[in-house]
Amino acid sequence: MLENLEQLKLKFNHELNLVETRDELEKIRVAFLGKKGLVTEELKNLRNLSGEDKKTAGMQVNKLKNEIEQAIVSYQTVIEEKEYQKEIESAECYDYSIPSENEAGTLHPITIVQRQIEDIFKTMGFIIEDGLEVQTEYNNFEAVNIPKNHPARDMQDTYYLENGQILKTHTSAAQNTIMRKYGAPKPGEPLKVLFPGRCFRNENIDASHENTFFQLEGMMIGDDISISNLIYFMKVLLSEVFKRDVKVRLRPGFFPFVEPGFELDINCAICGGDGCPTCKNSGWLELLPCGMIHPNVLRMGGIDPDRYTGFAFGLGLTRLAMMKYNIKDIRLFNSGNLKQLKQFTN
Ligand code: DAH
Repeated sequence: MLENLEQLKLKFNHELNLVETRDELEKIRVAFLGKKGLVTEELKNLRNLSGEDKKTAGMQVNKLKNEIEQAIVSYQTVIEEKEYQKEIESAECYDYSIPSENEAGTLHPITIVQRQIEDIFKTMGFIIEDGLEVQTEYNNFEAVNIPKNHPARDMQDTYYLENGQILKTHTSAAQNTIMRKYGAPKPGEPLKVLFPGRCFRNENIDASHENTFFQLEGMMIGDDISISNLIYFMKVLLSEVFKRDVKVRLRPGFFPFVEPGFELDINCAICGGDGCPTCKNSGWLELLPCGMIHPNVLRMGGIDPDRYTGFAFGLGLTRLAMMKYNIKDIRLFNSGNLKQLKQFTN
């Protein structure tokens, strides 16, 4: 029996030396230590021995078993190292000092303008809110005083989801939710909120119409908020965006959710107000619809219109970016054309 063990040991060492992979190692383990493995068989053979012989042989077989187990465990690390080396040798090599062909990304022009405006308004105490893109018809229309069958709905034809909800057609859709979230303002602490967002309308797309565009809406509600407050904030906003002192004028405009409602124009920067093709010779550019929040809208938002007043404005962010950067075609914004989009940096 002892001779046999000696041979087994030699056989094992010989085969182990030929092992290259984990699978091969496992095969050897099974061949020697498995249920019907060679060493296991030797252990079974002990049954045929007795007394001192059984004891000595038993010790020897167990010794061999332990040695083989140990050898397999240490060889495992050797093989892992071998396999790792192979992987490294076959892998592609990288030279990290070669300049990358991929350029760093830039912010989208709309994001740039949006952040600029947010920064200005944050310094004036406005909260930034993030309205939902999928809205109920109630929030989008009824809650801003556009009841069912109101003709104003025609101008905002939109996309309906199967569950009856819609993609919001304007940022005003968040007004009601925001009023309810913050509640009536405390004395001396008007509610000041800015809520930019992506809007959707069923449009025929051309150079100046998109079905997906951005607006930026603002509201200020409190005691004695008046049109003077509205004009002040709009002037600050536009002067910062256009980096010049802008003149503004208000013309009456109709929007169901404000009363009175206005179209706010700025003096044309191109001709300085003398008249040019850009401003259609009027000296003014139409930019920003706004007004004093309609009492119905305040009431539906849970705010007492006999006690509080407020203004709201809905800036066409996409349009503003077009004016600021002199972009002639609205389709550029959603085009993913990096060559063009990355030109706009501040
Ligand atoms: N929601 C309007 C639109 O998309 C824009 C608007 C006009 C918003 C007047 C306002 C506002 O807050 O006061 O056409």
